[in-house]
Amino acid sequence: MTSSSPSPVHTIEDYSPNLWLTPKVHLRFDLDPHLTVVRADYDVQLNGKLLGPMFLHGEKLEFLSLRLNGAVANPNEYKITDLGLEILQPPGEHFQLTIENRICPDENTSLEGLYKSGSMLCTQNEPEGFRKIVYSVDRPDNMMRFTVTISGDPTYFPVMLSNGNLIRETVPVEGKKEVVWEDPYPKPSYLFALVAGELVETKDQFLTQSGRNVTLKIFVEKGNEEKVGFAFDSLKKAMKWDEDTFGLEYDLDLFMIVAVEDFNMGAMENKGLNLFNAKLVLADKKSATDETFESIMAVIGHEYFHNYTGNRVTLRNWFNLTLKEGLTVFRDQWFTEDMTDPHVKRIKDILFLKEYQFPEDQGPMSHPILPKSYTEMNNFYTVTVYEKGAEVIRLVSEILGRESFKKGLQLYLTRYDGQGVTFEEFVSSMEEAYGKPIPLLRNWYHRKGTPKIQIEERFDSKENEWEFTITDPNPGEYPLVYVNSFAAFDPNGKLLVEEKRIQEGPKDILRIPASSEGEKPILSLFRSLSSPVLVDNFLSKEEIRILAENEPDGVSRFFAFQNLIFSWFAETLLEGDTVSLHEILEVLKSSFQKPWDKTYFSFYLTFPSLGQISEHLQSFDFVKLNQMRNHALRTISQTFTKEFQFLYEENRKTIPTQTKEEIGKRRLKNVALYYLLHDPSRGFEHLAVTQQREAKHMSEEISPLRYLIEVDSAEKETAISNFYDRWKHDALVLDVWFAAQVAFGVNKRSVVEELESNPKFTQKNPNKVRSLYFSFARNPLSFHEETGSGYKLIAERIKQLNGINPQIAAGLAKLFSQASKQKGNLPKIAKRELEEIQNLPQISKDLGEVVGKIIQSL
Ligand code: TRP
Ligand code: ZN
Repeated sequence: MTSSSPSPVHTIEDYSPNLWLTPKVHLRFDLDPHLTVVRADYDVQLNGKLLGPMFLHGEKLEFLSLRLNGAVANPNEYKITDLGLEILQPPGEHFQLTIENRICPDENTSLEGLYKSGSMLCTQNEPEGFRKIVYSVDRPDNMMRFTVTISGDPTYFPVMLSNGNLIRETVPVEGKKEVVWEDPYPKPSYLFALVAGELVETKDQFLTQSGRNVTLKIFVEKGNEEKVGFAFDSLKKAMKWDEDTFGLEYDLDLFMIVAVEDFNMGAMENKGLNLFNAKLVLADKKSATDETFESIMAVIGHEYFHNYTGNRVTLRNWFNLTLKEGLTVFRDQWFTEDMTDPHVKRIKDILFLKEYQFPEDQGPMSHPILPKSYTEMNNFYTVTVYEKGAEVIRLVSEILGRESFKKGLQLYLTRYDGQGVTFEEFVSSMEEAYGKPIPLLRNWYHRKGTPKIQIEERFDSKENEWEFTITDPNPGEYPLVYVNSFAAFDPNGKLLVEEKRIQEGPKDILRIPASSEGEKPILSLFRSLSSPVLVDNFLSKEEIRILAENEPDGVSRFFAFQNLIFSWFAETLLEGDTVSLHEILEVLKSSFQKPWDKTYFSFYLTFPSLGQISEHLQSFDFVKLNQMRNHALRTISQTFTKEFQFLYEENRKTIPTQTKEEIGKRRLKNVALYYLLHDPSRGFEHLAVTQQREAKHMSEEISPLRYLIEVDSAEKETAISNFYDRWKHDALVLDVWFAAQVAFGVNKRSVVEELESNPKFTQKNPNKVRSLYFSFARNPLSFHEETGSGYKLIAERIKQLNGINPQIAAGLAKLFSQASKQKGNLPKIAKRELEEIQNLPQISKDLGEVVGKIIQSL
């Protein structure tokens, strides 16, 4: 697609059901990495009253033949374009359609459709990849019953997989094998999968609540078979949890996961055959960090949970993506809360939302969780659709309470089983379980941007009450319903009231009795982020300090302390470098005496990153913010050297297992080390060096490396090369090594260029691209460097990636979203660079859509 012929925009108003459906399909694949022949036999059914032409999607396919009811069609009976094939006069309301075409999997670097990764061929079809495999009605509202025959040379393809059950395996001639898979559940094309190659099969099983035995298999490339244990455990926990929580039992006798090296995203929920980015399956204590272990559990859960929320009940159209993603993220968050620590998990999720979703919603890519239009759907797999979508579902669960929410979900899944629906069917099921309508809830699906809540306070001396007015000043077309979980405290930190309030519309008034002296209560609003909003700060530093020490809710206490830190930055920016850290140090001092859980304490102690600080303050002088941040870290380090040394020693000895206690010890030890290293005068580097050398777990090994790089220690070069020598055989660990070297600090452009020439780096592997380019572009000190050198580097790489993998190129381009807020010439430079990208003769629609939107903001 060239820029002179703009791609069509799909808008939600234009949606209409498809005229033709294909309720049954038999696919046949004759596999060959260079040239695979695909044949589809469809049962075609008219979905309306009047016969009209039938359109089938098809992109980058080599057409071979077409038959209507068994007879070869005449070329004037159909029309082929770049986007598909049209049958001009279908032979009746119901007919048989057979189409054959060829594709080249090993030339497909987009990693969408059928492609080659390592020694295997595999598919990725969501959202619109199936049309790159075969001519098809490639829309989620076309549900098909699939039978799949795969034929190939068993020396290259000893394993051949598709969805559902294996029903036949034959050897028709020597040197050929044929397998037939059948999926009893109708599904849209995006849930189809095929995998074939030289894979090692690992096996486990799960006994369901009704007593059925489900076979679980994980397929990996040779050499990785020892790294699947944690993934199996996570899968069994997820299966059990969905039974216990929602009564949902797995519905086939076989569940398969395949670990793929080259993968555009995290993982994919194809029916009965999940495909995973290898980094979200493979783990052992030596090579995986605690964060990786937790992500594996969460993503295995996420994809498994899609079996109901997404697969059994699927989407009518892509505008409703959040119907499956927001809901399934909410389910996986809940799962992790139950498996780990609910407060810590909630803290992580809120931090993630604030750091990534809030800026997206404030920037040029802002869109409602139900986008109104798109050019390339791949661009809408966003933190807004996923994470804000999950917050909206959380809000529903807070309004209903978790027990009614479970009933609502069961109702939704039973009523719409086997159908493609919209958010309306979900919301109305929830309202039915609630017993009454939920006014304004639907507006959360249509409104973009994070609501900014303002607070006004007034003392009513007659009633001796304090009155707080809570306002959403810009409701526009879409006033909202909010859940406001709040508490009020007296100046000694004593809890006065606690309530969960449902606020319908832009204004609410809280009245709180004052003590006899009319003292103002201290309010803690939207506790645990009970609605996805930003609240204008209305508290004094002293009030924030009181909350940071006394909030009984661990999540709100954590964020109160973060706010205390942010308010120090805000004041210092206003007044110069002299503001004292007194309140922060006071809170820290008392925190060392608290009997908190180790993991929780390690989070409480974690100083906000540069990105978090700048996002919170909407200040983009990164050099200055970084100086201030280093000053604060050094002061804290010097004030509490003894305490950090004690914490470090106390948690030094760990056992490399994934228990809560050991994870907490590793985290706490690392946080202590981080502070100790930020006082350069004390020479604590030897602790880092020793820790890296003696590490028994990747969380202990990688942190010292990151910290030594961040503080620019003289020891960093040795640490980098030692790490490399130890791990150069392991691609997944190397990803972390690449990232660590460019993710912090100034002048990383030359480091990127040097690392690109490392033999292990390739632009064709998305994990490598994410490790190097995305990490660099998320490092504000280097990416937003004032002469624009960071922008030029990334723009250059985006152009290269456009020809390799449009989805990844567009993802990288999104990181220019913050450019309009930067100082000096940076917005101008960004604009020039992006315009050059826009003029690429072969720009993909993915990249064209993103770059076009960002340029408008510049
Ligand atoms: N449906 C997947 C999930 O969230 C995400 C997905 C969409 C995806 N497109 C993809 C994954 C392309 C891998 C590649 O679970
Ligand atoms: Zn998902």
